[in-house]
Formats: sequence, structure tokens, C-alpha cells
Amino acid sequence: MKRIQYDGLSFVPYIDREQIADRIREIGRQITEEFRGKRPLIICVLNGAFPFASDLFRQIDTDAEIAFIKLSSYQGTGSTGVVKEIMGLSADIEGRSVIVVEDIIDTGNTIHKLKADLEARKPATLRIATLLFKPEALKKDVKPDYVGFNIPNKFIIGFGLDLDGLARNLPDIWVHESENNSAE
Ligand code: IMP
Ligand code: MG
Repeated sequence: MKRIQYDGLSFVPYIDREQIADRIREIGRQITEEFRGKRPLIICVLNGAFPFASDLFRQIDTDAEIAFIKLSSYQGTGSTGVVKEIMGLSADIEGRSVIVVEDIIDTGNTIHKLKADLEARKPATLRIATLLFKPEALKKDVKPDYVGFNIPNKFIIGFGLDLDGLARNLPDIWVHESENNSAE
């Protein structure tokens, strides 16, 4: 089997680019039908969600807008980090149909905080789209509306997901070797 290494860790192929593209097309179709005429505002959460948001946005076949935000956290990147603030949300979302686009929901801490902050700005509707979801790791009461792939609690990289800043540019998704398992 093919293998790649980052930081001394070994990764093997997990979800390939065709599977990812197929799933994004399906989600795009669904969003198109549900938000036709509503001019949805897609909010891409940087950095990890940018490849997913880019592909998904182009699969939405009705008028839509996109905005980008970045979250800062006390601990930098770790999934236990406390989300401190939202940077860059200049768009007025009051009364808008908002769809937040995330790369992955792990413990749910990030999206839980972000959702509360965005809801305070009174959007008409607020949906969550995530490319990957680890239901077993979830610690918060938050459920994504659109999920690319449900995956077990394994460490993955590629297609926006990083290990210490690297591997985001891999076109496919790879899983840490000792944890290899299949996506649903
Ligand atoms: P949360 O635990 O749901 O708040 O997720 C926090 C962040 O941890 C995500 O936005 C990702 O940046 C990162 N993360 C969680 N799981 C993985 C993974 O398997 N690979 C790479 N990054 C991950
Ligand atoms: Mg992220």
C-alpha cells in the first residue's frame, strides 16, 4: 500500500479525490434545491475548510455569496483549544440564510462556540456543512446539517486538513496508518 510520512508519522490512503468530489456534488445539489432564490451566504472557516468550501461553492447552482472567517484560539490549533474570537466577519448576516462550512467536526467545541456567536447576529437560518464528522469524538450538543463523510475517531490529513501546518495540499485524504479503518 502507498504510504506518506509527516513528522515521523505514517499515513495511508483513506478517501480519494473522486469520492470527495462525488460527495461534494451531492451536497451542492442539495443546497441548491434548498436555498434557491434565498441567496445563501456561505461562511468558510479558515484555514482547513478552504478546499472544501471552494469546491462546494462552485457546485451551488443558484445565486450565493461567500465570506471567510478565521477563529483564534488560546491554544493555537488543538481541538481542546478555547475559541477566543471570530476574525474577519464583516458581512452583515442579520436576516440571511447562512451556511457555515467546516473541514471537520471533532469534539464539536469550535463549531459550538461559532454557532452561538453567529446566532447572536440573528441570521434567518443557520446551517452547518462539514466535510468530515467524527460522531464518536463529539462532546457538544451540535449536529451538522450536511456531512461529507462520517468517520471513526482517527487522525486524518489532506484536502485542507493539516498536521502542524503541512499536508493541506494533498488532493486525497489519508489516515494515520496504525488507525486505518474505513469511512462510512
Ligand atoms: P473540534 O474538536 O470539533 O473543535 O475541532 C477542532 C479542530 O481540530 C478542527 O477544526 C481541525 O482543525 C482539528 N482536527 C480535528 N480532527 C482532526 C484530524 O483528524 N486531522 C486534522 N485536524 C483535525
Ligand atoms: Mg479547522
